[in-house]
Amino acid sequence: MSPDHRQRIFHVLDPRQFSRADLDELCRLTTRVRGLAKTKEGARMLQTMLPHKRAMLYFTQPSTRTFLSFNNACHVLGIRTSEIRDPATSSEVKGESFEDSIRTFSSYVDIIIMRTWGEGMARTSADLMDRIRRRIPIVNAGSGKDQHPTQALLDIYTLERSFEQQGGIDGKVIGFMGDLKRGRTVRSLAHLMENYTGVRLVFIAPDAFQIDAAITDALAARGIAFEKSDDLHDRLPELDAIYITRLQTEYDTASESGGFDHTRFHFGPRELGMLKREGTIMHPLPRGPELDPAVDADPRAVYWRQERNGMWMRVALLMKIFAVEGEVDFG
Ligand code: NCD
Repeated sequence: MSPDHRQRIFHVLDPRQFSRADLDELCRLTTRVRGLAKTKEGARMLQTMLPHKRAMLYFTQPSTRTFLSFNNACHVLGIRTSEIRDPATSSEVKGESFEDSIRTFSSYVDIIIMRTWGEGMARTSADLMDRIRRRIPIVNAGSGKDQHPTQALLDIYTLERSFEQQGGIDGKVIGFMGDLKRGRTVRSLAHLMENYTGVRLVFIAPDAFQIDAAITDALAARGIAFEKSDDLHDRLPELDAIYITRLQTEYDTASESGGFDHTRFHFGPRELGMLKREGTIMHPLPRGPELDPAVDADPRAVYWRQERNGMWMRVALLMKIFAVEGEVDFG
């Protein structure tokens, strides 16, 4: 390991694989590529970085942002892409096993970016890659209710930029509101928060939708302060940022979502008045009734920027995976 604890990135499976040094470097690299891409020369230079690489986007769970941002991130770097978005169009319907399908993809491409309903499928694929001769990186673009590491990376980037004039993420109070039990974005972002000093996390949800012990135990083990609350209005004034998430109705097995009270866990014009003047409002999108579109016009609402940051962060991540980040001048 290098003295500053930055590691080579190969598979991207879990937010816990990233150190603070990795996060800081990825954020710097993201800002650098965003700047470069603004000029024709810079964009052309990025385009020439990875034209010899091909990517497979295997997205068998619905996706708009993550798919489009990875697809476009690949194209920014000259990577060619192919995709499967519906398992009914792959040989899995002929009974081919998941592992054989992944191995087949790996014969044609240099990286597999995957979103699945199942929780361990990215890891299973990475383990398979580690056993075969043609080992290519696997990127988890959302694994069921479990993790969404690349969303957490772009969320960190968005928070760092929002707190640019306030000393960055360290020392900030971050609130999370919504379906914290089944939403993978909050689980992943909470893990990345373990890298920051003096932060306090406030999980705001009805009891039945609260963050689970696997996450809070991990936070406690790393000495990260956190609290749980079921009262948004009570906690809102102390937050530096609020990260709002939607109800994950697709995981209902017995109409659980019906028990979520959107009148109490809702962010609209009234809540805007309770948030700090310098506060930040985030949402991974897509939104539901928890976030009023009337909030969009407030300068503290950064979720559309957050969405766009996702593409640039994914460009930076792909550059790290293929070890070409040294080709851009950090000066
Ligand atoms: C999130 C996801 O898929 O987990 N969306 C995204 O990637 N931006 C959030 C969600 O669907 O609620």
